[in-house]
Amino acid sequence: TAPAAVIVGIDGPSGTGKSSTSKAVAAKLGLRYLDTGAQYRAITWWMLSNGIDVRDTAAVAEAAAKPGIVSGTDPSAPTIAVDGADAAGPIRTPEVTAAVSAVSAVPEVRARLTELQRAIAAEAPRGIVVEGRDIGTTVLPDADLKIFLTASEAARAARRSGELGGKSASDLAATQAALAKRDAADSGRKASPLAKAADAVEVDTTELTLEQVIECVVTLIEDKQQGT
Ligand code: DC
Repeated sequence: TAPAAVIVGIDGPSGTGKSSTSKAVAAKLGLRYLDTGAQYRAITWWMLSNGIDVRDTAAVAEAAAKPGIVSGTDPSAPTIAVDGADAAGPIRTPEVTAAVSAVSAVPEVRARLTELQRAIAAEAPRGIVVEGRDIGTTVLPDADLKIFLTASEAARAARRSGELGGKSASDLAATQAALAKRDAADSGRKASPLAKAADAVEVDTTELTLEQVIECVVTLIEDKQQGT
């Protein structure tokens, strides 16, 4: 008989290396990969494109079920589509990044995406690595392994600013301020806030290279699979 599928949840704030780590780990172990942040961004992009005021909670709630969201879960080429259109580019714009915390605080949005995320995880043939903010606490409370990635605020801002092509000290300061604001909103909201599950393994990545974080998570998964 085939080994049971392994379900891994990776949570943590922005700039801790969640996406790079999750993709690489899934590729190494032959698992699927799901970026739940991309789904929240996709709904947010749809709201902005359709003229919905993201501060109007009732309007966002009413529209939550409207956009068609499809995630491709191949870790070497993940995709995100909204109503059949490729959304990979538009979901990374500063406008979407600034609006996503407001949209993801709305319970109807979370309920819809949580259901979708559980269905995708249940279908993964050999298992899946799911990254987000509430995977261990809410989406997949029975995951085989839960990881919570952390890093100092300075390290997270430096990584994110580098990704965005920032070069100057003021780019870095602006990135750090935006990141701190989004993390505070994501951690402070009522509906399944960013939080470490009681049974999650915390990995502080401040002093680690990406390769070291990947190695650490791969080892944790392999230990689980061998029942050690
Ligand atoms: O991982 P990311 O930065 O692309 O996520 C974008 C936003 O989506 C993040 O600010 C909070 C929200 N999010 C969430 O509320 N729950 C998740 N499971 C994943 C992301």
